[in-house]
Amino acid sequence: MAHVVTQSCVGDGSCVYACPVNCIQPTPDDPRFELAEMLHIDPAACVDCGACVTACPVDAIKPHARLAPEERAFEAINAAFHREARPRPLLAPVRPRLLVRDHGEDLRVAVVGSGPAALYAAEEVLTIPGATVSVYERQDRPYGLVHAGVAPDHRRTRRVSRQLDTIRRHPRLTLHLGVEVGRDVTHDQLTDTHHAVIYGVGAASDRRLEIPGADLPGVVPATEAVAWYNGALGSDGTRLNLSGRRVVIVGNGNVALDIARILAMDPEALAGSDIAPAALDVLRASAVEEVVVVGRRGPERSAFTLPEIVGLTATPGVAVQVVSEELAGAPSGPKVDLLRGLGAPADGARRIVLRYGLTPERVLGAAEVEGIAFRRTAGDGGETFATGLVVPSIGYRGEPVPALPYDPVRGIVPNDEGRVVDPVTGAPMPRTYVVGWAKRGPTGFIGTNKGCSQDTVAALVDDHNAGLLGVMRHRAA
Ligand SMILES: Cc1cc2nc3c(=O)[nH]c(=O)nc-3n(C[C@H](O)[C@H](O)[C@H](O)COP(=O)(O)OP(=O)(O)OC[C@H]3O[C@@H](n4cnc5c(N)ncnc54)[C@H](O)[C@@H]3O)c2cc1C
Ligand SMILES: NC(=O)c1ccc[n+]([C@@H]2O[C@H](COP(=O)([O-])OP(=O)(O)OC[C@H]3O[C@@H](n4cnc5c(N)ncnc54)[C@H](OP(=O)(O)O)[C@@H]3O)[C@@H](O)[C@H]2O)c1
Repeated sequence: MAHVVTQSCVGDGSCVYACPVNCIQPTPDDPRFELAEMLHIDPAACVDCGACVTACPVDAIKPHARLAPEERAFEAINAAFHREARPRPLLAPVRPRLLVRDHGEDLRVAVVGSGPAALYAAEEVLTIPGATVSVYERQDRPYGLVHAGVAPDHRRTRRVSRQLDTIRRHPRLTLHLGVEVGRDVTHDQLTDTHHAVIYGVGAASDRRLEIPGADLPGVVPATEAVAWYNGALGSDGTRLNLSGRRVVIVGNGNVALDIARILAMDPEALAGSDIAPAALDVLRASAVEEVVVVGRRGPERSAFTLPEIVGLTATPGVAVQVVSEELAGAPSGPKVDLLRGLGAPADGARRIVLRYGLTPERVLGAAEVEGIAFRRTAGDGGETFATGLVVPSIGYRGEPVPALPYDPVRGIVPNDEGRVVDPVTGAPMPRTYVVGWAKRGPTGFIGTNKGCSQDTVAALVDDHNAGLLGVMRHRAA
């Protein structure tokens, strides 16, 4: 018997270090870690001690015998990763401790944002004896996309907030909610009272669909749909018109799957979740029968991850369908094989139809959306879908932050390994750092931000040791 990593894995690597036999891969030092869609336990090496279960912040790991029927697919997914045996050390390599030079005063660091990246950075700074951290969050509730992004029915994933609670309650951390840096407090005020400022401001905006008709009423970006079902838009904040029988989502990343699932699920199955009550009322009155999720490339290039499509296909009352001609030539692989194995839809189920190889060309309609036209990405022809609601889910995008440089192409704060830099000269902006989606762009899981934040704090400590953070002129109030 062995333990098994399941769908809610956020890839923070806590389990890797808890494991006494290093049977969880890839480890954070492995080049495959950044691209991995989840972590995997080697069933042949697992000693079944359960240390990983305790370490996992989202209860993603279960003993093999306790897997629910819909989780059984993860046994094969875990084992398949280890089939290609690679030599590995007995214990996973851990990061060296931060060695901090004593400059005669305790380090004071301001952290902007309270999402995973910001709080993982705070956690790392707090490993430095005597260091204090002031966190500034513009919203009234902390944790960024952990509350405002993660789907309300992904309750195990949302449990990562318990890990963030522990960081937030550290006695040397002060959290200021409802304070927007750049509006309520300036960058200069922060550098006056802290040795360094770390920005973990995320990527709150959306990448725009730049095709004719994309401004018509009835085109509602994923950012807005997500904010709506997570209760960030207030009670009547939705422009999602669910009175038609079909919705078309452009893009097939995990956000697209989240939205498709929420729109297609039985609303009563969502009733016990963290969904906003107003959104649940709208879903109860929804006429939607079919959600079409359209990718511009082939099925082997689906942007969603394997754990998420496994979870989606196991959602009660939802039938996932694919057009067989679009799968025909696709090379075999875990996602394609899973799509090939889908059965016929059950009667009465709402459908999620995954379409492939279609590039959006034009949103149709005069005063409001009536449909959307796609052309075949490779080859001739195309397809038009009649619909009153088009949801572009083609990626999030960072906004400029007052006083910081901005890369308009990538929508990030320009940086060199987390040091904010002038995009033209490459010169570092003194005592200013960046982490998470604002540093790397809008990709990666919650846990991906942990190593990213640790790298930035390591750069900050190097600068401190080199005397570049100086001595504070004023004490913070
Ligand atoms: C819809 C959606 C669902 C997701 N679901 C999952 C999932 O199930 N599992 C998973 O592993 N990953 C998931 N992810 C990915 C995960 O949420 C991200 O990797 C992670 O949240 C990025 O962390 P961050 O700290 O960089 O940004 P964020 O989480 O966006 O945090 C940024 C914070 O900064 C604050 N802020 C911004 N500007 C300012 C300012 N000027 N002053 C003060 N505060 C400011 C914001 O209010 C926010 O709280 C999801 C992402 C999305 C978009
Ligand atoms: N449960 C989870 O673990 C979870 C849930 C939600 C989000 N996340 C993570 O959060 C990150 C962001 O997710 P996301 O879904 O927003 O982004 P994403 O994974 O980058 O997917 C974006 C999708 O939009 C498509 N696209 C981009 N530009 C387009 C255009 N102009 N026209 C048509 N299609 C276009 C992309 O197609 P191409 O691939 O062809 O470029 C892709 O299908 C990801 O790393 C994701 O894994 C994780």
